[in-house]
Amino acid sequence: MHFDAIGRVPGDPILGLMELYAQDPNPNKFDLGVGVYKDDQGLTPIPHSVKLAEQRLVEQQTTKTYIGGHGNAAFGTLISELVLGAGSPLLSERRAGATQTPGGTGALRLSADFIAHSLPGRGVWLSNPTWPIHETIFAKAGLKVSHYPYVGSDNRLDVAAMLATLSTVPTGDVVLLHACCHNPTGFDLSQDDWRQVLKIVRERELLPLIDFAYQGFGDGLEQDAWAVRLFATELPEVLITSSCSKNFGLYSDRVGALIVCATNAEKLTDVRSQLAFTARNLWSTPPDHGAAVVATILGDAGLKKQWAEEVEAMRARIAQLRSGLVEALAPHGLSEQFAHIAAQRGMFSYTGLSASQVQRLREKHSVYMVNSGRANVAGIDATRLTLLAQAIADVSNT
Ligand code: LMR
Repeated sequence: MHFDAIGRVPGDPILGLMELYAQDPNPNKFDLGVGVYKDDQGLTPIPHSVKLAEQRLVEQQTTKTYIGGHGNAAFGTLISELVLGAGSPLLSERRAGATQTPGGTGALRLSADFIAHSLPGRGVWLSNPTWPIHETIFAKAGLKVSHYPYVGSDNRLDVAAMLATLSTVPTGDVVLLHACCHNPTGFDLSQDDWRQVLKIVRERELLPLIDFAYQGFGDGLEQDAWAVRLFATELPEVLITSSCSKNFGLYSDRVGALIVCATNAEKLTDVRSQLAFTARNLWSTPPDHGAAVVATILGDAGLKKQWAEEVEAMRARIAQLRSGLVEALAPHGLSEQFAHIAAQRGMFSYTGLSASQVQRLREKHSVYMVNSGRANVAGIDATRLTLLAQAIADVSNT
C-alpha cells in the first residue's frame, strides 16, 4: 500500500508533555512543560483586556472577508510600534513593516522560506541550546543550520565562547538571537554583551533575525525591547519575529508578525512583496480574530493601559515564583545550587537537572518538564512550592 513505508516520528518534545500530563491521575501533578502562563488554579486565563476587545469586536465587526497577504493593517502598524517604539524613525521613514503570521512560529517559518528563496547560500546560526523547533524549521526549509555556544556545561551563560564563534561566522549568514527571556535557558545577555554582539554582526555583515516571543515577561514591555531597538537603529537590515501568544494570552488564536527593517521604503516594498508571495503559498492569508483583538487593544488608550497592567502582573508573579522556588529549596540545602533560577528571566529556567533526574521527577512525583531540564516557571502553582521543592530535592540528592 502507499503508506506502508511510512514510519513514526517521536512525539513533539514539548507538546507531547501536555498529553502525558493530561493523562496523569495524580491530583498533585505539576505542569512545567509547555510555555504557557498559569495561575494558582492551574488555569491559563484570558486577560480582561482581551475579553473586552473581543466583546467590542462581536458588536462592531461587520465582515470576515480575507484580510490580505500582510494581514490586518492596523495590527501591523500597532505591533511595529510596540516592538520598535512608537517614535521610531524606522516607522516615520517607512523602513520597517510587519507581515502578520500565525503566531511567532509562523513568523519563523516565513523567515526560513524567505531566506531559503531570496537569500540563497546563507547559513543560519542558532544558540546552543535553543528552542528545538528553531532547529527543525530552518532545516526543513533546506537551510544549513550551525550553532554558536550560549550556555556552558556548568549551566552558566558563556558570552566569551558565543562571541568567539560569532566572530568566525561567514559574512552574510543569518544569526538568530533571542531578544529576551531566552528559550530554553532563561539566561539573557546584558546590555554590554548585546553591544559586543552588535559589533561583530556589523563587522562581519551578518543578518540578525531576532526572535521576540516574550515581550513584557522579562523586565517589562519597554525594557525587553531594548536590544531589538538597538539593532534596528544601528543596523541597516534586521528581521524580527514577534509573538502575541504569551503577552496577550492569545496562544490558540495564533497571532504573530515578521517585522522587516530595510535600508529604504523602496527596498522594504520589494522584500514585503516576497513575503506576501511566500505567505500565500504557506497559509494564503493569516487568521484575523487574534490580530483584530490586539489591534483593538493597542489602538485604545484605556484598553492598552489595562493590558499593560495585566502583562506586568504576570511578569511580577513569574519573578516571585522564581525567588519563591529558590527559598523553598533552602531547607534542603539547595538554594545555592539553584540560585540561577531567581536570576534567569521569563517563563523558562534551565534548572541544571539531568535527563534522568527529569525522568524520575515525572515518574515518581508527577512533575512534568522538558528532558533538557527546562522548567516552565510560569506553570508553577505558588501554593505548592514546598511540595515542588521536596520533589526536586528528592531527585537531586540521589
Ligand atoms: C515552548 O517553548 O514551550 C513554547 O514556545 C510553546 C511551543 O510552541 O513550544
